[in-house]
Amino acid sequence: MDVLVVGSGGREHALALALGADPAVQTVHVAPGNPGAAHVAETHPLDISDNDAIADLADKLGVDLVIVGPEAPLVNGAADAVRARGIACFGPSRAAAWIEGSKAFAKEIMAAAGVPTAMARVCENADEVAAALDAFGPPYVVKDDGLASGKGVVVTTDRDAALAHAASADRVVVEEYLDGPEVSLFGVTDGKTVVPLMPAQDFKRVGDGDAGPNTGGMGAYAPLPWAPPDLVDDVVARVLQPTVDELRRRGTPFAGLLYAGLALTSRGVRVVEFNCRFGDPETQVLLPLLRSPLGRLLHAAATGTLADLEQLRWQPGAAVTVVVATHGYPEAPRTGDVIEGAEEVDALEGVHVIHAGTSVDQAGNLVAAGGRVLAVTAHGPDLAIARDRVYDAVARIHLEGAHHRMDIAAAAVLGEVNLPRS
Ligand code: AMP
Ligand code: GLY
Repeated sequence: MDVLVVGSGGREHALALALGADPAVQTVHVAPGNPGAAHVAETHPLDISDNDAIADLADKLGVDLVIVGPEAPLVNGAADAVRARGIACFGPSRAAAWIEGSKAFAKEIMAAAGVPTAMARVCENADEVAAALDAFGPPYVVKDDGLASGKGVVVTTDRDAALAHAASADRVVVEEYLDGPEVSLFGVTDGKTVVPLMPAQDFKRVGDGDAGPNTGGMGAYAPLPWAPPDLVDDVVARVLQPTVDELRRRGTPFAGLLYAGLALTSRGVRVVEFNCRFGDPETQVLLPLLRSPLGRLLHAAATGTLADLEQLRWQPGAAVTVVVATHGYPEAPRTGDVIEGAEEVDALEGVHVIHAGTSVDQAGNLVAAGGRVLAVTAHGPDLAIARDRVYDAVARIHLEGAHHRMDIAAAAVLGEVNLPRS
């Protein structure tokens, strides 16, 4: 089959790389892609905010499957436009993608489906916000209702900062603070059957020890040596399947990737958020571990045939991903600095350099073009070795002013990730 991946980030580069390794996939196209994707796929210019342009390109290329990567085109109805042309699409309809498009809608679905999540109030003015903050108490959690690339959330013990964040948006969700480690679990679904991937942990804050503001994600690792053995079954049974069932019951089935961001709290698993697409950088850490062919899996989800698919197989060992961010990210990302060493590092055994915010300048240099520039992933026989390898690889890449977290997977390697006791 021929596949078109829509998007230009690290997730799309990682998907293209994994699709290229599936013997059933002949040609991988990425649009618009980035310099990394261009190494592993055919890239095409595309305005991803234009649904007709996406469907036209899929038609023109004659692909058998379209994978819509980012949330913005999904929430904008890109998958509906592709399906209307009779082309199989991995990615939810506009209506189903609303589970990420609106935090208030996500809460409504969870309430209807009985899915455990933080208590929350939707607030439309300062008085409602103040009352909600005082009802839940500190630490305060205030979220923009709409899409904000992971940056619309403030978690703080400073009541004034919480009020100020709320004042910057028309509608916010104020919710109870969830204690306990976070887990990302991805469910591939055709709208009925759910096939879970391996749980991963993402690092959302910019600095070591979870200091500083939230970002799109600074690193990840999998598997999670500290996770309870029944975690995946529990999350499928209590979170992913009921949510998929509820969306189908409403006549808006979700076919694509349902991403559950979870907190393992002292009172059990709680959903922090849903996303309607592969997460970044979890995708970069999970796909090198997946042994089953990716094209076949996503095609089955897009065509309603997941129930017939054999069980997923995984590589032994572990993987760690570290994101290299440009100077000033996330507040004021600087662009144009030259990146050196990325290709040499990508050539190392068991290491992948996935491009996110890169471009090629007029002189032909690879340069930083966005906040999160590269994600470096290393695979190893265990988490400690994968972690050593990834930091060795990152050290060989030079980007002036760049920064990355030094503590990705560190607590897990030391056995210091603790589940709060109930
Ligand atoms: P979200 O965009 O909803 O995923 O939030 C981004 C990040 O903010 C999450 O990954 C958590 O680290 C943090 N966060 C969100 N909601 C809560 C909550 N209720 N309690 C504690 N931390 C939260
Ligand atoms: N890793 C966080 C996200 O993709 O939203």
